[in-house]
Amino acid sequence: MLGNFSYCNPTRLYFGDNSLEYLNSELKKYGKNVVLVYGGGSAKKNGIYDEVVEILRKSGKNIAEISGVMPNPTVEKLYEGIEIARNHNVDLLLAVGGGSVCDYCKAVSVSVNCDEDPWEKYYINFEEPTCEIIPVGCVLTMVGTGSEMNTGSVITNHKSKLKIGHVFADEKIMPRFSILNPKYTLTLPHYQMVSGIYDIFNHICEQYFSGEDDNTSDYISEGLMKSLINSSRIANRDSQNYEARSNIMWTATWALNTLVAKGKSTDWMVHMIGQAVGAYTDATHGMTLSAVSLPYYRFIMPYGLAKFKRFAVNVWDVDAAGKTDEQVALEGLDAMESWMKELGLVMNITDLGASEDMIEGIANSTLILNGGYKSLNHEEIVQILKQSL
Ligand code: NZQ
Ligand code: ZN
Repeated sequence: MLGNFSYCNPTRLYFGDNSLEYLNSELKKYGKNVVLVYGGGSAKKNGIYDEVVEILRKSGKNIAEISGVMPNPTVEKLYEGIEIARNHNVDLLLAVGGGSVCDYCKAVSVSVNCDEDPWEKYYINFEEPTCEIIPVGCVLTMVGTGSEMNTGSVITNHKSKLKIGHVFADEKIMPRFSILNPKYTLTLPHYQMVSGIYDIFNHICEQYFSGEDDNTSDYISEGLMKSLINSSRIANRDSQNYEARSNIMWTATWALNTLVAKGKSTDWMVHMIGQAVGAYTDATHGMTLSAVSLPYYRFIMPYGLAKFKRFAVNVWDVDAAGKTDEQVALEGLDAMESWMKELGLVMNITDLGASEDMIEGIANSTLILNGGYKSLNHEEIVQILKQSL
C-alpha cells in the first residue's frame, strides 16, 4: 500500500435484533429537544415509529417531527426541515429510515445554525460547515447507502436537474450513533432490497477499480463482495432469512464507512452517471447504478485490465487457465451480469424512464471525477449512456 492517510470513524454502532434497547442510553447524552425524522409511512406501518416514540417519551424528550422525507430528498424539503428544527431549538436529529432520511438529517444538521443558503454552500460550492453542527442519530430501516456510518449527504434539485452528494470532510457529520436491526429490513419490498444490495456492491467496486499497488483495502473489498454475493442469493430466494439480511446489513456499513478507500484513489463514475440519471428520472438510487454499470465497466476494462482479471478470478471464481487476460476479465463481467439478472435488477435506463432525447442533458449533469482507470470525457459519457438505453 503506497497511500498516506488518517483514519477516524466516531459512529457508535448497535447491531442486532435487540439493538433498539440502546437508544435510551444514547438519548441521555443529548438535550431535551429531539426532532424525529422519517419517510413516507413505512416506519408507521411496520411499528418502528411507535417503538421509537415510546422510548423518546419515556426519556422525557420534547419531540417535533419532520415526516414525509422522500427517496432522493429534495432541496425544498431541506428548507422545510431546517425551519422545523430551528423552531424546535433542536438538540438531536433522530433519523428513522433509509439512506434518504439519514442523508437528509445530515443536511439539516449542518444548516440549522448556518445563515447561508445550504444548497449553494454545500452542494454547489462544496464548502464545509462553519457553524455549529447538530448531532444526528440513526435507526436504520433500509440497507445500502452506508449513510449510517459516513459523512455523505445527497440532495436533489429538480429545478436545476442536479442530484449532488457531498461527502463532508469533518467526521463530526457522521451520525453519533446508529442502530442496526436486521429485522427492520425484513419488510422492504423486493425491489428496494435488491436495489440496496446492488448499491452496496457498487460502492465496493467504486473503491476497488483504481490503483496499481498491492493494497490491503482491495483484499477486504474482495471478501465483502464474496459475502454479499452469497447472502444476496440466499435473501433473493428467501427474503425473511435473518442471517443473510444481517450479513447484508453489516456489509453495507463496511462498504462505505471510509475503510476500504483508505490508501487508494477511488473511481465513483458509476455513481456520478447514476446520480445524473436520478436527477432526470427520480429513479431508485441502486437501480440507476445497475442500469449503467455494465456499459461503463466494459468500456473502462481495457484501462484497468489487471484489476478486472483479478476481480474475475478472486470474486467470481473464473478459471483463468488457457485464456487471455481480456477473456478472463470479460468472463468476470459476464458472471456479474448473470448475478445482477438473477437478482432482478434494472439493467437499462429506459426502464427507469430515461429516453434518448435526455442523454445530452444527463451527460451534462454528470460530474466528472478522475480517480478511476480512465478519465471520461463528455462524448464517452454520452456513448456509455446510449449503450445503457
Ligand atoms: O419513505 P418510506 O415510506 O419509509 O419508504 C422507504 C422508501 O420508499 C422504503 N423503506 C425504507 N425502510 C423500509 C421501507 N419500506 C419497507 N420497510 C422498511 N423497513 O424504502 C424506500 C427507499 O428508501 P431510501 O431511504 O430512499 O433508500 P436508500 O437507503 O437507498 O437511500 C437512497 C438515498 O441515499 C443516497 C441516494 O442518492 C438516495 O438519495 N445515497 C447516499 C449515500 C451516502 N450517504 O453515502 C451514498 C449512496 O451512494 C447514495 O447516493
Ligand atoms: Zn450508492
